Amino acid sequence: MIVLMLACATPAPEAGPEPVATASPRPSPPERYALGRAATPEEVAAWDRDVDSSWNGLPAGKGTAAEGKALYAAKCLMCHGPDAKGGQGWLGPNLVAKEPVSGFGADYHPPRTVGNYWPYASTVFDYIYRSMPQTAPASLSADETYALVAFLFAENGIVAADATLDQDSIKQVVMPVQDKFVEDDRLGTNQFR
Ligand code: HEC
Repeated sequence: MIVLMLACATPAPEAGPEPVATASPRPSPPERYALGRAATPEEVAAWDRDVDSSWNGLPAGKGTAAEGKALYAAKCLMCHGPDAKGGQGWLGPNLVAKEPVSGFGADYHPPRTVGNYWPYASTVFDYIYRSMPQTAPASLSADETYALVAFLFAENGIVAADATLDQDSIKQVVMPVQDKFVEDDRLGTNQFR
């Protein structure tokens, strides 16, 4: 009832002009700005290579940690360092660390890496497949990406040093910190977002 009374007391907003139907659809940005051109379906397909958390989009393929080590030396080392730990002087961040010795909570600034901060293997594959090496994103083949993921997982102690990963075995990998991530179900957060 109170709601109704308030609604009556509020003056109705002025009705705006009716939207005018345009004669032709709006031209696409390249035409509108006379700049660039529309991407071809092939170009869009080349970039459309994301892998989601349910593994949709995962390409078939396989690679060993040993192959990954060689690929790492050729394509990643120059930024992430010889031991994949990044650090001073290296452009790329550290990719190798287990859970902080002091445990989460006591150590507020642990290095966040694939080994101690990434909860799902799918994200590691997706990230590398789409965006690394940073100078040539989306240039890695599926096999190369499996090999690089196997190498990084081996360096982080997640799979054996002689491991092979493929489209089936990668789905079995449980990241060490997966259970450290919990759903944020605190009451009230929706109201403040
Ligand atoms: C030209 C330098 C460069 C090269 C080469 C490069 N990276 Fe990176 N990489 C970066 C930078 C810079 C970041 C951080 C990007 C950011 O945080 O936005 C990064 C981030 C990453 C991350 C995410 C790290 C994290 O925890 O946030 C992974 C995984 C990774 N790179 C893997 C690789 C692999 C595998 C290769 C080789 C195929 C590679 N990178 C080659 C510069 C590079």
